[in-house]
Amino acid sequence: MKILMVCLGNICRSPLAEGIMRHLAAKQHPDWEIDSAGTGGWHVGDPPDHRSLKEARRHGIDISGLRGRQFQPADFDRFDRIYVMDRSNYTDVLRKARNEADKTRVYFLLENQQEVPDPWYDDALFAPVYEMICKACERIVNNEP
Ligand code: 4NP
Repeated sequence: MKILMVCLGNICRSPLAEGIMRHLAAKQHPDWEIDSAGTGGWHVGDPPDHRSLKEARRHGIDISGLRGRQFQPADFDRFDRIYVMDRSNYTDVLRKARNEADKTRVYFLLENQQEVPDPWYDDALFAPVYEMICKACERIVNNEP
């Protein structure tokens, strides 16, 4: 399975999702490939936000080596599942789809199209965002619907 985690900037939520998913998949699915990207291009080449770095570190996960990159249509070919954090990511990714097959690869990370809130302007959101992403990743590695 090849999984791409997508948010807006690729420095707060999706690097956390990539790090958590890598950590969980390493035990149960060592063949899985995990990556992340942002729909926006402002943070290309940047390391994760220091608040995401800290939150991951608090849980024993090191995401310091990750670097921001922008989502591109070729990602529809490279990944089986593209998980987005919120509704605007969903719209932005679908807008880049080249055909119906591309669109079928896009999923909300949370169940029932719930959103992982953007924590950029609110330091207090990083801890709950971590928990939301973690629960979702556990569900995915355990192949629950
Ligand atoms: P992310 O958070 O989408 O979770 O990485 C954001 C990061 C940067 C910006 C917005 C959201 N920004 O406006 O630069």
